[in-house]
Amino acid sequence: MKNTGKLAVLGSINADHILSLAQFPRPGETVLGTQYQVAFGGKGANQAVAAGRSGADVSFIACVGEDNIGGHIRQQLAKDHINVAPVEVVAGESTGVALIFVNAEGENSIAIHAGANAALTPAIVEKHQQTIVDAAVLLMQLESPLDSVLAAAKIARQHQTRVVLNPAPATSLSDELLALVDMITPNETEAEILTGVRITSDEDAAHAASVLHEKGIASVLITLGHRGVWLSENGDGQRIAGFKVKAVDTIAAGDTFNGALITALLEDKPMDQAVRFAHAAAAIAVTRPGAQPSVPWRDEIDSFLLQQE
Ligand code: RIB
Repeated sequence: MKNTGKLAVLGSINADHILSLAQFPRPGETVLGTQYQVAFGGKGANQAVAAGRSGADVSFIACVGEDNIGGHIRQQLAKDHINVAPVEVVAGESTGVALIFVNAEGENSIAIHAGANAALTPAIVEKHQQTIVDAAVLLMQLESPLDSVLAAAKIARQHQTRVVLNPAPATSLSDELLALVDMITPNETEAEILTGVRITSDEDAAHAASVLHEKGIASVLITLGHRGVWLSENGDGQRIAGFKVKAVDTIAAGDTFNGALITALLEDKPMDQAVRFAHAAAAIAVTRPGAQPSVPWRDEIDSFLLQQE
């Protein structure tokens, strides 16, 4: 890994409209919600916020619409210690929107309108390529156009910037893109779509990881919900358990894990310690409602970890 200590995140920004309810509506059914909130989200923004609040030197390549909420989100991202110079305001577009139901178990169901996120074209990636060149790590997800994700990965590979891909939301990906990825962090569903391996045990996770290694990815972290993470480095695998907490809302738990993980790796923490740090950040996030409102700051993560010793 290059030693610049910098992180570039490329990804989405959404305004999350979150409705809490007892249970998800079935097709044709109308249900009454118990609580409604608009909060800042988007997988890219959530991961950038998790990195910024946990202590990384992070720049964010993204797009907002030419609307009030886009302006507010951009200001908030700057307060979260993120360089927002590469966040473009797209004329005539609206900021991305996510419509989210949260049930009584804290599970969620999400539908997205891409809005300005769809305007993050390869041309915009090229415009901000110096941000990728200057970074030690490029962190991406899949709420941005796939050709832009590929273009950014190519720039990163040419300049020895490590490519970390959180392949969410789940979709199949080309071998060309996967071969440019140094570290991948799917959940079980995403891993199944990428590998064809259904994961119900550690052995399955090891098998899925081996398929991803064969595609050229050195580090594979498969998140397993309450069972923790399957970490496989060049085929050497282990499960690292998470922390037990009472979850009220799991929105952005994975995003918080990813952002905090990269902060720890940029601080040269060994991989197992970095995963523990990321588990702690995600554990705090699930005890709070919303996406970015739930993401912890560094002092909160450090205190949480101290309490576990
Ligand atoms: O990962 C959670 C995020 O997914 C939400 O903030 C929502 O915006 C969707 O992008």
